[in-house]
Amino acid sequence: MEKIIVQGGKQLKGTITVSGAKNAVLPVIVASLLSDGACRIQDVPRLTDVETICDVLGEVGAKIKIIDAHTLDINCNKINKFEASYEYVSKMRASNLVMGPLLARLGKAKISMPGGCAIGTRPIDLHLKGFEAMGARIKLEHGYIIAEAPRLTGARIYLDYPSVGATENIIMTGSLAHGVTVIENAAEEPEIVDLANFINSMGGRIKGAGTKIVKIEGVKNLGSTTHTIIPDRIEAGSFMVAAAITGGELMLENVIADHLKPVIAKLIEIGVEIEEVGNGLYIRASNPLKAVDIKTLPYPGFPTDMQAQFMSLLTVVQGTSVLTETVFENRFMHAEELRRMGADIKIEGRSAVVEGMNRLTGALVRASDLRAGAALIIAGLAAEGVTEIGNIYHIDRGYDRIVDKFRSVGANISRS
Ligand code: UD1
Repeated sequence: MEKIIVQGGKQLKGTITVSGAKNAVLPVIVASLLSDGACRIQDVPRLTDVETICDVLGEVGAKIKIIDAHTLDINCNKINKFEASYEYVSKMRASNLVMGPLLARLGKAKISMPGGCAIGTRPIDLHLKGFEAMGARIKLEHGYIIAEAPRLTGARIYLDYPSVGATENIIMTGSLAHGVTVIENAAEEPEIVDLANFINSMGGRIKGAGTKIVKIEGVKNLGSTTHTIIPDRIEAGSFMVAAAITGGELMLENVIADHLKPVIAKLIEIGVEIEEVGNGLYIRASNPLKAVDIKTLPYPGFPTDMQAQFMSLLTVVQGTSVLTETVFENRFMHAEELRRMGADIKIEGRSAVVEGMNRLTGALVRASDLRAGAALIIAGLAAEGVTEIGNIYHIDRGYDRIVDKFRSVGANISRS
């Protein structure tokens, strides 16, 4: 099993170019299932999650051509299967996003039921409620969810919770339904706006993406397009926290600062200097840092996908910080690993109480999920001695060449 090995103590200094967003590219690749034309997708990050979603599309008959390291051509003119098997859905929960487009294109979709995962049970009831409201019949058989709809009709759908995946699945389905679909209490994440822009560039009619009310006017068919993926705000945020914990200085290129507002605000509150420079961000941590409280919320609140990285940072910031996780249950697995590095963290229900200390010490640790993995690298960068991180397949799912990027700004980090 491969490991990432970090020798702590180096201040990061230099420039990093942020890759295309994982959480945007996955739904965009899936949405090309809606098109009977040719889709070119640019600024695709190199991630194992991208490989998995391409395998899912290949399984249903899509033709995918790799043009270069960051460009894909996808043609879904002749999709002919309506099933996403257990092999893929168990590897990556976002595979369930193909359900809506398959239902819309083929009138039927069969998806392995998502099981539990490291960060909570993560049901997809809101996705299914949306399909039902549009006229689909849903049944569960042998561990699979089967949705059937000879004809999908636009509907008014109120989401009990602004789920990112449910909003995306309903937008995609509604794009080829008869009539108008309105999603109320929709998720407002920037990745949803990127998805809507992609569908609209194929001839879709989606309005209000990025707000609580999204209106989708169904069209008969969607055609060809070229689309560039937005920068990854969570990758950018992870490097910002890494700069902060090492007392370093980084210039991040290819950033949309607007998407990072809650992350920037927290880092400034902690005492980090941040400046917008063109389409980039300059980060410097030279002052003493202060403890803060953080509560994760749906966008535009503080992202749950940044909670673990901030926890690493706050373990070495003097004072008491409280991190409250409201989006996912059971998303504190990294706390146990950080304790192995000497951190003082107590979990009290949905909150983690962190008592900042002078420094962490390197240890053997394991990534329990993607962001937990990034948090352990960040902790290792500041720890005394060597940190060896196992289960790094989690990290490869969502960070494009993270070891190379950290090395390029002076980190002592390698894979072995
Ligand atoms: C997406 C992101 C993930 C991020 C999360 C929250 C992708 C590929 N993944 O995941 O990185 O952490 O948004 O910002 O974009 N829920 C239900 N019923 C549903 C759907 C969701 O109860 O039908 C619950 C979930 O269990 C969870 C919460 O809603 O507690 C948020 O989930 P959701 O917004 O759907 O996240 P994902 O789309 O899975």
